[in-house]
Amino acid sequence: MDIQIIRNASPAAKPADEGKLGFGRIFTDHMFTMEWDREKGWHDAKIEPFGNLSIHPASTVLHYGSEIFEGMKAYRWADGRIVLFRPQENFARMNRSAVRMGLPELDPDFALRSLKELIKIDADWVPHGVGTSLYIRPFMIGDDEHLGVHSVQHVRYLVILSPSGSYYAAGINPVDIMIEDADVRAVRGGTGEAKCGGNYGASVRAGERAEQKGYAQVLWLDGVERKYIEEVGSMNIMFKIKGKVCTPVLNGSILPGITRKSILELLRSEGVEAEERRISLAELIDAAQDGTLEEAWGCGTAAVVSPVGHLAYEGKVYEINGAKIGPVTQHLYDELTGIQWGKRPDPFNWIVPVE
Ligand code: PLP
Ligand code: COI
Repeated sequence: MDIQIIRNASPAAKPADEGKLGFGRIFTDHMFTMEWDREKGWHDAKIEPFGNLSIHPASTVLHYGSEIFEGMKAYRWADGRIVLFRPQENFARMNRSAVRMGLPELDPDFALRSLKELIKIDADWVPHGVGTSLYIRPFMIGDDEHLGVHSVQHVRYLVILSPSGSYYAAGINPVDIMIEDADVRAVRGGTGEAKCGGNYGASVRAGERAEQKGYAQVLWLDGVERKYIEEVGSMNIMFKIKGKVCTPVLNGSILPGITRKSILELLRSEGVEAEERRISLAELIDAAQDGTLEEAWGCGTAAVVSPVGHLAYEGKVYEINGAKIGPVTQHLYDELTGIQWGKRPDPFNWIVPVE
């Protein structure tokens, strides 16, 4: 399929201070858009000026949440090259999310080619500063113009780009997390393992309660028994307990993170055992109390590798590793960002240049 290119005749000024980018607040000059319907399939692929969408007030996405998205980053290397990290994994996950939500799958090769074209057009927007990157947000919405709840007939796929700094104001400094025991994020058979907007909309209330108490995010428990650890609001969670790295097993209600997968592959390639298993809240609290919870960190595209300094549960606060980044967390941060920024070799072939 050809991509029609409509250049932005009034490009915006680039941010003057890359130290103040924040996350997801500034957008580049162009976006990618494509339409789908049952007769024609995907069509009308365009790179066009970034701008507001015109949408019918009865559009499916506005009423029934037919929406999926992805999150990935483009990194600018010291030699000026721009690269992506495992983008094929994102498009594969997007297709799994699409199947779960009754939306059409993308051709992953075309999705990658069109993403590269878009980034090339907005290449000047990829920031240079340490720890900055171009955050990429592909998303898909159901767009039928009637109120019946049926399989969707019209869909739009878009990609927007946002030069960003760190997701947490704390940067690589430890974040404090509150264990949520009232609301649940997802249940098996629901949409937890899909990256769909509704999962995040439903998480806002718990996130607000945590923020009011000074915590960055919540740690979700399983939706049935509320006994097992699942993940954090925008990242997967890992622990080092009694000398061993462990992370909750993918059980159908947790988002299969690409950073999580990469860390497990990295550790195993170093001969370090990393367990994917059920981790009970009781085990975690016991370990936090007796000091055998040696490290805890979250991992995700936006959050990278974020050490957890304090865990709060039922009014008690547990400090982890003196609220300092631990050696495994630091090692994983260094290795992963080293590969992403071209400062370390990439034996896994995770890097995909934008060319
Ligand atoms: N879990 C949730 C709920 C997320 O939103 C994210 C971020 O995408 C992750 C985990 C981490 O996934 P990834 O490493 O693919 O970014
Ligand atoms: C990401 O890490 O890419 C995310 O999607 C997290 C979040 C901002 C929802």
